[in-house]
Amino acid sequence: MIILGIETSCDDTCASIVRASGSIKNPKFKILSNVVSSQVKIHRKYGGVMPAMAARAHAKNIVPVFKKAFNAAKIKPKEIDLISVTDHPGLMPALLVGVNAARALAWALKKPILGIDHMQGHAVAHLLVPTNVPKSKTQIPNSKTIKFPAVGLLVSGGHTQIILMQDYNHMKLIGETLDDAAGEAFDKVARMLGLPFPGGPPVAAAAAAKRKTQSAKRKINITLPRPMMNSGDYNFSFSGLKTAVLYLTQDLHKKYGKRLPQEIRNEICAEFQQAVVDVLLSKTLRAAKKYNAKTVIIGGGVSANQELRRQLSERITYELPKTVLKIPTVGLALDNAAMIAAAGYFQWLGGKRGTWKNVRVRL
Ligand code: KG4
Ligand code: ZN
Repeated sequence: MIILGIETSCDDTCASIVRASGSIKNPKFKILSNVVSSQVKIHRKYGGVMPAMAARAHAKNIVPVFKKAFNAAKIKPKEIDLISVTDHPGLMPALLVGVNAARALAWALKKPILGIDHMQGHAVAHLLVPTNVPKSKTQIPNSKTIKFPAVGLLVSGGHTQIILMQDYNHMKLIGETLDDAAGEAFDKVARMLGLPFPGGPPVAAAAAAKRKTQSAKRKINITLPRPMMNSGDYNFSFSGLKTAVLYLTQDLHKKYGKRLPQEIRNEICAEFQQAVVDVLLSKTLRAAKKYNAKTVIIGGGVSANQELRRQLSERITYELPKTVLKIPTVGLALDNAAMIAAAGYFQWLGGKRGTWKNVRVRL
């Protein structure tokens, strides 16, 4: 079937056409188009996403994004079989734009529509192979299936979750953040250090640069907390870590002035990133061991982090050699609508049905 995925939960206006076939155990996906219109320039000056401005930009962009997705896929609107739209979680004004555009399309085209949990999209993104326009619309490569049970680490700007998956339609939340999400902590720390929004990429780049400046004269030893690392459950807390960086930078400002030297910023970013990675990995591995996970999955914007990927892969190789790690490509780790289309396919296979009348923003 041909699925139109729509995603407007945060600051990216996304539409994607995905061809899906196969059973829940052996699904096959082919991305025919995957359009992401980023609003980063709008929100950058505020250091975070402004919900009302995000909604206004979604409203402006959504029809051009639809047109681009259909054109790139060489598919006509009437050819789609299903509309799959993120209906939660996210910013209410932003979600309203995507959900109501989707409902209007579903009504006009007389097509079924399903409301999708954004985090389920991140959980299935590893199945997708990035492509542009297909050579043949009928050719569907085998998406690699995984063995269950699987443990998923879903880390985004708004959420940090550990899920236990019995299959692609049975995902149980076993742990989550009690306060800030991992991505939010990256964004706030970046802001404290004068780095641009979104904070993940510049903080990761500064951390990587630290290795090159290790011989710098102004070297300081920084140790940040690893909150809840040994709490025995699968929950997280990142607000204390964020506050620890705030106090540290306030102290350092007294010595170095308003703008901290680059090597000091690099040191802070490296230790902050390592603290986040240590906590995320420790909980993910503990869950994988406890539930005898055959597969570990990661997804969400923070899973684009190269150190997180490298260290998780290393620890799984040593500590759980029989477990397979599934990682989405960097582009598909970030918000996109192809993952929402794929999650919609699983819901459809699971028997879920809907019309424009029963899809609503769910918060
Ligand atoms: O999943 P996502 O694209 O959007 C939400 O659903 O929130 O995640 C965005 C988050 C932002 O907080 C961003 O700073 C973070 O992912 N991020 C990263 C990296 N790239 C994006 N965090 C750490 N390292 C990265 N390379
Ligand atoms: Zn996301």
